[in-house]
Amino acid sequence: CREFNVVVLGAGGVGKSCLTAQFVHNEWIESYDPTIEDSYRTQISVDGRQVVLEILDTAGTEQFVAMRDLYMKTGHGFMLVFSISSRTSFDELQTLRDDIIRIRDDEKIPIVIVGNKADLEDQRAVDRAKAFALSQRWDAPYYEASARTRTNVDEAFTDLCRQMLRR
Ligand code: GTP
Ligand code: MG
Repeated sequence: CREFNVVVLGAGGVGKSCLTAQFVHNEWIESYDPTIEDSYRTQISVDGRQVVLEILDTAGTEQFVAMRDLYMKTGHGFMLVFSISSRTSFDELQTLRDDIIRIRDDEKIPIVIVGNKADLEDQRAVDRAKAFALSQRWDAPYYEASARTRTNVDEAFTDLCRQMLRR
C-alpha cells in the first residue's frame, strides 16, 4: 500500500477546503471559514490498488503563504485550484507552479488543474479554452469541478493518484 502527500493550493476562497471535504467526507460546506492549515488522511482504491493519501488543505490567504515552501518540499502531488468565476485566481496558478518547480527542481511533478465552482456558469470569468491552453502548456490535466454539486471531485483526485502511482 503506497502513501502519498497531496497538497491543495490556490487563492483564498476558491473552494480548496470544500473540494477536500467532499472528497474525504462527502459533505458540502456552505459557510466560508478561511483555512490556516488542515490535513486529512484517507485511503482509496485506484485501479485496484490501495493508496493512502495525506491531503494538506492549505491557506490561500496571503498572510499564511510563508508556509508554502514547506508544503511544496513534502508534496508528491499538487492540486492547483482556481475558481472559474475569478480571473485573478486563475492568474495566480502560474506563480504557484513556478514555485513548485523551482523548489522541487522537477518538471514532471504530478499536478492537476481544477477550475472549481463550475456550477456558477453565469459568473464565469475564465474561458474553458484558456484553462485548456494552460493545461496543454504544462502537460497537466484540467478538470472543471464543483464542490457544491460534487462534480469531477473524485475524478480530479483519482487522476492525481494515477500520476503519482506512475512515478
Ligand atoms: P481559503 O481556505 O481561505 O484558502 O479558501 P478555500 O479555497 O478553502 O475556500 P472554501 O472551500 O472555504 O470555499 C469558499 C467559499 O466558496 C465557501 O463559501 C464555499 O461554500 C464556496 N464554494 C466552494 N466551492 C464551491 C463550488 O463548487 N460552488 C459554489 N457555488 N461555491 C463554492
Ligand atoms: Mg480553505
